[in-house]
Amino acid sequence: MERIPEPELMEEKEQVISYDEADFSEGEVNLINQINQYLLRKNISLGEKDLIVDLGCGPGNISEKLAIKWPNSEVVGIDGSKEMISRAQYNKNTNKKKLKNLRYICSDIKDIKSNNLLLKKKISLLVSNSLIHHITNLEDFFNTIRSLSNNITVNFHKDLKRPLDEKSALELKAQCSIKYNEILTNDYYASLRASYTFKELKNFTLENNLSSLDVFEDGDKYLVVYGKV
Ligand SMILES: C[S@@+](CC[C@H](N)C(=O)[O-])C[C@H]1O[C@@H](n2cnc3c(N)ncnc32)[C@H](O)[C@@H]1O
Repeated sequence: MERIPEPELMEEKEQVISYDEADFSEGEVNLINQINQYLLRKNISLGEKDLIVDLGCGPGNISEKLAIKWPNSEVVGIDGSKEMISRAQYNKNTNKKKLKNLRYICSDIKDIKSNNLLLKKKISLLVSNSLIHHITNLEDFFNTIRSLSNNITVNFHKDLKRPLDEKSALELKAQCSIKYNEILTNDYYASLRASYTFKELKNFTLENNLSSLDVFEDGDKYLVVYGKV
């Protein structure tokens, strides 16, 4: 199936509310467990000196879980959509856990370097979930993670995998509509068509001097890019 890009930022109020109100907790908990397992295997423990950055953080579901899992580390969620960031800030303020180690920044990932975001520490863990498919040109995503990474940075980026054909995409859309509302279902379908394939991500890393990053297929619906840049 040909890739059909979708708008990068999620800025429409209704779209943001639908996304925020949906329950994606099962996948989010899986992601945190996957990252934790990876860090354990590499003998990496995150503490006070460490900075965790969540790119394309949306309403902050993953950022909050990172902040709870690693309460002594600083967590920064970054998103280019003002609407998403104000939702994330609201969710943080109303969370019963204090989440003092979490803060948000509104910035397009393509502008992070030039915006000089006052990230005072080196990033130890650079995460994203469901961000890559929003990025029109893959080099913008990889240039960002390259510029934010240093010799200690562990990258872990998870996203949808583009279905093989339109029929499979429509089947996934139909499954989605059982659980989620129309706005979310349409967004999900657009996301599936905008996603990258394993081959596209893997080839990009091989052709752009990023072969220290690994790419794997996580079940039949997801892809993960991980490792050091
Ligand atoms: C599908 S949501 C995922 C949100 C969150 N990571 C999660 O898993 O719940 C994608 C988010 O990436 C943000 N985004 C897309 N392109 C971006 C860009 N170029 N710079 C910053 N944020 C971006 C969107 O605004 C949106 O909030």
